[in-house]
Amino acid sequence: MSVVALVPAAGRGERLGAGVPKALVEVGGEPLLVHAVRGLWRSGCVQQVVVAAPRSEVDVVTAALASVGAAVHVVIGGAERSESVKLALDAALEIVPDAEVVLVHDAARAFTPPGLTASVVAAVRAGAPAVIPALPVADTIKQVDADGVVRATPDRATLRAVQTPQGFAVDVLRRAHEAALADGVAATDDAGLVERIGIPVHTVLGHADAMKVTTPFDLTVAGALLAARSPAVEGQA
Ligand code: C5P
Repeated sequence: MSVVALVPAAGRGERLGAGVPKALVEVGGEPLLVHAVRGLWRSGCVQQVVVAAPRSEVDVVTAALASVGAAVHVVIGGAERSESVKLALDAALEIVPDAEVVLVHDAARAFTPPGLTASVVAAVRAGAPAVIPALPVADTIKQVDADGVVRATPDRATLRAVQTPQGFAVDVLRRAHEAALADGVAATDDAGLVERIGIPVHTVLGHADAMKVTTPFDLTVAGALLAARSPAVEGQA
């Protein structure tokens, strides 16, 4: 069962304030995107990675990824994230026509352990149509109104913080995106699109290292995480 992995990184998002798209912000001398693709490849279960990059960054991204030694192809992304996912999926299936499993990964979750990717793939291979890594939440979560007044306190035991890579049977991701397009729904969460069409989304236990690098604080944490890893540990996690 062949597996392809998509990394939509074609947004211009510069919220980290480094003056470059977030995926190109460096940790330990390499862009987040490079770390993310390396992690996917080290899982040992991905045949092809396809990255969607901004048109102006395709050459830079392609050059940066050369050092990973992975089967990786870069496409120009679309106007919306969902379009970037679709363009990346089309390219991946041209390269690996018999792919049955597709992963969608966020470059900002650059230090996701390869073992987590392998467990997502294993769950899809075992028959789940859609699988996401999820962690119990440590904080109590409140629902508030526009004025910041608490309206509800969901039972924490039922809540999960979700991560990537998200894994899907290829036809399930396709159907979810087609339905979203037809209904004019945009989403940053592919599993949410699968949920919308009534297909169950399963979870596997996530990992703290699959944190999303979003703020300068996260960058500091990511740097420490990378410094603490030896190559041997990184391969096993
Ligand atoms: O900007 P936003 O937070 O929605 O982006 C979420 C992810 O989708 C980012 O990784 C971004 O690079 C990607 N994206 C994309 N193509 C777009 C817009 C966003 O691949 N047109």
